[in-house]
Amino acid sequence: MKICIIGTGYVGLVAGTCFAESGNDVICVDVDEAKIEGLKNGVIPIYEPGLKELVLRNCEEGRLSFTTDLASAVKASLVNFIAVGTPPGEDGSADLQYVLDVARTIGRNMESFKILVDKSTVPVGTADKVRAVVNEELEKRHATIEFDVVSNPEFLKEGAAIDDFMKPDRVVIGTDNVRTAEIMKELYAPFMRKTNRLIVMDIRSAEMTKYAANAMLATKISFMNQIANLCERMGADVSAVREGIGSDSRIGYDFLFPGVGYGGSCFPKDVKALVKTAEECDYEFILLKAVEEVNELQKLVLTDKINLRLGDNSLLKPLTGKTIAIWGLSFKPRTDDMREAPSVVIINRLLALGAKVCAHDPEAVKEAKKIFGENIVYSNNQYDILKGADALAIVTEWNEYRNPDFDRIKSLLRQPLIFDGRNLYQPSRMKEAGFEYLPIGRNGRHFVDI
Ligand code: UDX
Repeated sequence: MKICIIGTGYVGLVAGTCFAESGNDVICVDVDEAKIEGLKNGVIPIYEPGLKELVLRNCEEGRLSFTTDLASAVKASLVNFIAVGTPPGEDGSADLQYVLDVARTIGRNMESFKILVDKSTVPVGTADKVRAVVNEELEKRHATIEFDVVSNPEFLKEGAAIDDFMKPDRVVIGTDNVRTAEIMKELYAPFMRKTNRLIVMDIRSAEMTKYAANAMLATKISFMNQIANLCERMGADVSAVREGIGSDSRIGYDFLFPGVGYGGSCFPKDVKALVKTAEECDYEFILLKAVEEVNELQKLVLTDKINLRLGDNSLLKPLTGKTIAIWGLSFKPRTDDMREAPSVVIINRLLALGAKVCAHDPEAVKEAKKIFGENIVYSNNQYDILKGADALAIVTEWNEYRNPDFDRIKSLLRQPLIFDGRNLYQPSRMKEAGFEYLPIGRNGRHFVDI
């Protein structure tokens, strides 16, 4: 099948590459000339495991190409995926400017039947807006060309994007046209081997499904963060509680890890957008407002603990003279993505409290430099930054932090003190190793580590 993917961000690039991998002819389009030039030369703008190899192979085999020429790409394709950004506007609602610009260009240039697929996360009702602007353009041209608009939200996770796309739990197709549903089914058939769960529904429900899924997951995280904070105060262990509740199949174990708050390009933006959408319908989404508030507060938990333990309140900036070593900057492991990363709030707060910060991250240092500049020290060695630091604070759970050389950590830090925002270690093991260890929700007074 001939496919055009518009927008070479995370979703667009991964989707385009995976569609090419399953034998389709794919043209990826972007307005960013430098990015397209880079992609033509095998330079992948994001870090995503396995992506580079797939891009190179499919380009070499002639199924995947890159261009800035949207008009020609549209003319050559049957299915056109719109995967451009929908950044939050000032009021939190999703900004549809880029999506509608693309739709307009398609309307101006299409010469035969086209399927337009909304792949970007867009509010309920967007497909109608896309249809309206295409119709406007066709009217201007006095053209009567058939087209169809489909909502096909993407659920892939960064860091596991290829696998998620190739073996999805489900694919949601929102359409009111049987012929289009068949074409979309054909396109996704190669990825349906794991579950065969391709769910066809009406367009508005498909648009809503994406927001509801992300909002539900964000709710689970905020809920668990509050349970963890309560565990700490009550002398319970949140890890045991997670096991206890996760074993109930109605609850499940996933997405119940407490931490430093959720980040990334999706959860914060989508939760805000759904709250906003509700407002526009004169409905107050009370629960999601709380989810968001809890998440903002959770980003402060680690620094509160650091300040409580190391701060000198007689000083204007209580952490003056202290150095905190940070492990992990990206919003989650296996990505260099710093969007809405809790590390930004944590580090800025540490700096505001007067501390010096030195940080390690396996992939995100380049991105982090764009945010913190020279205000913090970076290293590509996770141990170097510990030398002379007053404490280690773990912010992102990269695999290389899971089994570190504890003796080495101890010999480098000024005191054996670890604040763990991701609960990577067993408290009993840390006690044995002579560390003062402060995880999230599991250092209660009555804690017995089994
Ligand atoms: C998310 C959705 O999972 C995906 O389906 C959607 O398409 C896009 O948004 P992503 O943003 O890549 O994907 O990351 P995800 O792995 O879901 O993690 C999001 C955030 O939640 C991270 O900051 C992570 O640290 C946090 N998180 C996740 C927790 O704090 N606890 C958990 O138990 C799980």
